[in-house]
Amino acid sequence: MTSIFTHDDEDIANEEYLAGESPADNNDDSAPLVDLRNVTRSVVLADDQQLHILRGVDLQIRVGDHTAIVGRSGCGKSTLLNILGLLDVPSSGQMLFDGTPVERLRSNTRAKLRGSSIGFVFQQFNLLPGRTALENVVTPLLYAGRKEFWRRNTLGMEILDRVGLAARAGTQPHMLSGGEQQRVAIARALVRRPRLILADEPTGALDVETGQAVMDLLDTIATESGAALVTITHDLNVAARARTRYRLDAGVLSSSDGMPVNDVLMGVSA
Ligand SMILES: Nc1ncnc2c1ncn2[C@@H]1O[C@H](COP(=O)(O)OP(=O)(O)O)[C@@H](O)[C@H]1O
Ligand SMILES: [Mg+2]
Repeated sequence: MTSIFTHDDEDIANEEYLAGESPADNNDDSAPLVDLRNVTRSVVLADDQQLHILRGVDLQIRVGDHTAIVGRSGCGKSTLLNILGLLDVPSSGQMLFDGTPVERLRSNTRAKLRGSSIGFVFQQFNLLPGRTALENVVTPLLYAGRKEFWRRNTLGMEILDRVGLAARAGTQPHMLSGGEQQRVAIARALVRRPRLILADEPTGALDVETGQAVMDLLDTIATESGAALVTITHDLNVAARARTRYRLDAGVLSSSDGMPVNDVLMGVSA
């Protein structure tokens, strides 16, 4: 397995520190890409009360997995997704990314790892207004290594072509339909070929048919590229197609494999 790190001087101390402790260079292909062990996330509220948002979450995501996490509003889904996406760290417990305990990484090392390994897709697409589809898609490459930076327009056009929107490369988001905007957002999420794709209600702002088409595309591209796909959803059709399903209830994650999808969603989609 190749190193997940870029080799800037400032990171070398961190890498040496990690090298002694972590199995980041292990060759075990069955090791999870993401491994959460008894992860909690709490925040202190204004009145000094603790709010326990995640309560002892265990979750393993392997390369090639397609996982759905369902839960009602406020149960901690986005908090969990932020931790999976290296935007936030657990209050306690451990998170390993490719064998590396991420809570010990410096924030800039974490940011680099996030940029090179993780792609995000959001409910509201989050495209930059006033920029073309291609400019939106290449945004992640502005922070990438030199090779990717200089090839950004080629790489951007390749992935726009893959989502069927090469002809719309010069179009601004407000001129595109919701489904097209989400396909641009998918292209942006995938342009650095991440190993983990995190989708937070990706079909939430789309009609059923367009949502199906968007999920078909996400599933297919994730499979093609060998990435792991984690989708947070209320949508019965989206949950049904994932190979592994979990339910999040007030910060407690439980597996719902083998359960009928309607039972998984009971009380969730209401
Ligand atoms: N930084 C924070 N400070 C206070 N409360 C928070 C914070 N982050 C999340 N919460 C609360 O924690 C709960 C879970 O939030 P979230 O993960 O966004 O839920 P979901 O995405 O499932 O709707 C919500 O009640 C939310 O208001
Ligand atoms: Mg949320």
